[in-house]
Amino acid sequence: MIHSFKPIKGNIAWRSPSNIAIVKYWGKYGNQLPQNPNISFTLSKAYSETSVAFQPKAIENAEPNIDFLFEGEENPKFRDKIVKFIDSIKSILPFLNEFDLSIQSSNSFPHSAGIASSASSMSALALCLIDIERQVSENFTDEEFYRKASIIARLGSGSACRSVYPYMATWGYSTSIPSSSNEYAIDFSAQIHPIFKTYKDAILIVSSDEKSVSSRAGHALMNNNLFAEARYQQAKQNMEALLPILKNGDINKFGAIAEQEALSLHALMMCSNPSFILMHANSLKIIDLIKQFRQEKDIPLYFTLDAGPNVHLLYPKSEEEKVEFFIKETLSTFCENGKVIYDEVGTGPVKLK
Ligand code: PMV
Repeated sequence: MIHSFKPIKGNIAWRSPSNIAIVKYWGKYGNQLPQNPNISFTLSKAYSETSVAFQPKAIENAEPNIDFLFEGEENPKFRDKIVKFIDSIKSILPFLNEFDLSIQSSNSFPHSAGIASSASSMSALALCLIDIERQVSENFTDEEFYRKASIIARLGSGSACRSVYPYMATWGYSTSIPSSSNEYAIDFSAQIHPIFKTYKDAILIVSSDEKSVSSRAGHALMNNNLFAEARYQQAKQNMEALLPILKNGDINKFGAIAEQEALSLHALMMCSNPSFILMHANSLKIIDLIKQFRQEKDIPLYFTLDAGPNVHLLYPKSEEEKVEFFIKETLSTFCENGKVIYDEVGTGPVKLK
């Protein structure tokens, strides 16, 4: 097929946040398709900002040129990843065969803070690329725009597909969510109780070391895990159970599911072959203290974890003061240099001027 693109140049920039899954995506098939439906909060303060300058390629019969700067500096490792990713999506976004790109990206959090940056950075890049497509090729509706961005983000890093929407997004086909799909995430913000739109997520940095197992390797380990099928069933059940809870705002039931999901994810890694223990002694200490605090003070403080040792504390805004006092007085002692990132549910990506 011959494509013709408008021979224009420009510069597009987006800020896109990280997200934290409540029902986890762990295990995939095909081209980055999830084995089970999953759902996350879109965060606010942990974000990436990416700009992409584009112009018709300088040398007509050559491969387009891609420059990449991370936090203002050359980063060959990240550049290689991006070049490979862009190559892999050229059949979906054919304009990428015709334009030179100069990409710059930075994060609101330090690269080695122990928070995964792939969701924010891949969603920010995807939003820029779809925005360029809209300019050089065809126009489309906002709904199509975010759906396309979600597909491209997913191909970069699965969980990134959820970051293009505000508040809450769900990815993966679920029988009880009619428009859900394995190909892209959908905006779930209209189906949640207002209490969740201001929910807090304090990220306790137990260690900022690079993860001992990449998420690619972690997903792959599910293929030979005897518990995999049971896990996919559990995730489906938890999704079903969570939907009415998200609607009626029952934060204790919500927290119980969040914790079970986090511990299941870690249990799966412990019984994989080879096995991985991703929590540290201090992660366990923090979890114990959270449970004790919840019981003694009757405050709905719950936790979740990604595939690493850092603990995400989930609590309603109304409990902010008491929980943050507890974090400062007690929990931060178990964090690397006392480091805590006080994040919260956010309104999703924004286009930058
Ligand atoms: O998007 P990936 O391939 O980095 O996998 C992310 C997996 C978890 O963060 C552990 C869970 C999730 O659903 O975000």
